[in-house]
Amino acid sequence: MTTFADFLTAKRTVEDRALNRVVFRQFVDALAEHAADRGADEPVRIVEIGVGTGSMIARLADWEALPPSVSYRAVDLDAEPLAVARRQLPEQLRAAGYTVESTDEGIVAKKTCDGQTRRIELTLAVDDGFEISDEADAVIAGAVLDLVDLPAAVEDIKRLLADKGVLYAPATFNGHTSFIPREPLDDRIEGLYHRHMDEIRDQPGSSRAGQQLLDKLPAAGYTLLAAGGADWVVRPVDGAYPAAESTVLAHLLSTIDGALADYPPDVLGSEKREAWIEARREQVDRSELTLVVHHLDVLARL
Ligand SMILES: C[S@@+](CC[C@H](N)C(=O)[O-])C[C@H]1O[C@@H](n2cnc3c(N)ncnc32)[C@H](O)[C@@H]1O
Repeated sequence: MTTFADFLTAKRTVEDRALNRVVFRQFVDALAEHAADRGADEPVRIVEIGVGTGSMIARLADWEALPPSVSYRAVDLDAEPLAVARRQLPEQLRAAGYTVESTDEGIVAKKTCDGQTRRIELTLAVDDGFEISDEADAVIAGAVLDLVDLPAAVEDIKRLLADKGVLYAPATFNGHTSFIPREPLDDRIEGLYHRHMDEIRDQPGSSRAGQQLLDKLPAAGYTLLAAGGADWVVRPVDGAYPAAESTVLAHLLSTIDGALADYPPDVLGSEKREAWIEARREQVDRSELTLVVHHLDVLARL
């Protein structure tokens, strides 16, 4: 059985392709500006809310996108993916050329590249990212702001940001999930799945959080620096899914199944739901299913 942490780990390759490079580049430039302002002796301070299994940390290290010295505080409400992050990150950082030392609270990773020393001082903790206090040059909230009360969250993040600090919110869901090949029930099911996010599930969040950021952030006093699409496309390549991407499909189908099961039978009967899900799972087994999910990546400065 695959876990939520397996899903988060598996979506790394999907998001490596999907992340909007224009927004990402501006985020990296903003980190470099903070590094210049803070000087050689002071690390750039990053807080990541909802770090999951640590994909963004691994990616930033792998893509050499971090300033030379960084203090990186990563928190998640859920201990399970965080435990996986603790287990996986040392190896992932070593693969990115760092030497890694484990500490009580996390990891210190160092490397020398082209005569320049790089250092990441990482802490990983179970915590509510919207309740902690800190002073950060950058807050990262990837695939999180669609799961929370958005106006409250952007206010809470303001409390974390230092002067001119930036919020990077990649992979914020924005209202589109579809499958290929098309099935007669698809439009109905996709609509019910999104309505479940907005009205039915027992947690806040929105199926249009990506676009809502575009007006909630300026309304809360941020300046929007960049925004762009970051769509997942999971598809078989040469007859098989790349890396562990079939896990992304399996997890998403289970999530949709759970959402649909919350509707009364007069909205969607269990036989129709089960038949639809089963047909989609069989397509995954035969490497025939393609998934498209729309997200926005957003960067804003306080
Ligand atoms: C969809 S996952 C994304 C994880 C990771 N950012 C990634 O993209 O792989 C959302 C994560 O946010 C975490 N989360 C939700 N609300 C949170 C909060 N208030 N504080 C910290 N983490 C939170 C969840 O536990 C979950 O691990």
